[in-house]
Amino acid sequence: MQPNPAPSKPRPADNTTNGLYMQDVLSVRQFTPQLLEYVFSVADEMRTLVERFGSADLLQGKIMANLFYEPSTRTSSSFMAAMQRLGGQVIPINSVQYSSVAKGESLADTVRTLECYADVIVLRHYEVGAAAEAARWASKPIINAGDGVGEHPTQALLDAYTIVRELGRMEGLTVAMVGDLRFGRTVHSLTRLLLSRNIAFRFVSPRLLRMPEEIRDEVTEAGDTYTEHEDIHDVIEEVDVLYVTRVQKERFTDLEEYEKVKDFYIITPELLKRAKTEMIVMHPFPRVGEIAYEVDVDPRAAYFRQMQNGLYIRMALLAAVLGRA
Ligand code: NCD
Repeated sequence: MQPNPAPSKPRPADNTTNGLYMQDVLSVRQFTPQLLEYVFSVADEMRTLVERFGSADLLQGKIMANLFYEPSTRTSSSFMAAMQRLGGQVIPINSVQYSSVAKGESLADTVRTLECYADVIVLRHYEVGAAAEAARWASKPIINAGDGVGEHPTQALLDAYTIVRELGRMEGLTVAMVGDLRFGRTVHSLTRLLLSRNIAFRFVSPRLLRMPEEIRDEVTEAGDTYTEHEDIHDVIEEVDVLYVTRVQKERFTDLEEYEKVKDFYIITPELLKRAKTEMIVMHPFPRVGEIAYEVDVDPRAAYFRQMQNGLYIRMALLAAVLGRA
């Protein structure tokens, strides 16, 4: 038997956090250009705060539940670090096999339990729409930390923030997304977030792993343009952003198909010799061979700075959602 959903969330008057106070963060579609600018400016403040003081007591007395049904290193630990650097506390449920989920508890019951103890719930789940479903049940804010092959909005925010910090703007760029565009949720969210900015998208993938039609249609409807390629050499000379992704092994039902496409692209120093001097290489990580280690010393390799930015973006989001930004 399914329990009744929670009444919709209280919508408190919010003049200080641009409407984010007590809200769920489920999709990048929520982020208007104005809201994005606000989040980026708070992230800048968080960077200064961490650099000068390491931590603050902005979220003292607040508790975040970190509920992860899929593996994670960066998303999970950066959310925990973000909460702790702001003086808050964390309930980490990173191994759901040791929680009541293993006894068959529903997502609805798990989130309604956690909100008895916590002020905000960060959720990663293997099903598309799981965060939205959790938000239907919870009266406390739910932050989507990745829902299957669906979205990964906080990653897209930190990706866009990285692009602005590194290249000074998001508008008018040539952005190549490379690798697993079919199953990779980071490229789904980032493409959506970058729409309507006069960006020339280059979708580079094996045929099997093309960007889903739904997202390609959204690009066209937004008045933006894209081209599709199998060969990365088609685009390497023109790109401002080379966003590389891992082939998502866990999403394949046929592992033979995975074997065929897993090493399709490997970014090497030789390849990057043909790229602009002012461009960046990004990757949400983990990498499993798509970018050679020798690339790490290239100043255009932005992926570790990108990770660091994740901390500031997640600090900004937590502070805003909890009304203290
Ligand atoms: C990504 C994810 O989980 O979608 N990782 C991350 O959050 N930084 C990318 C991936 O797993 O390949």
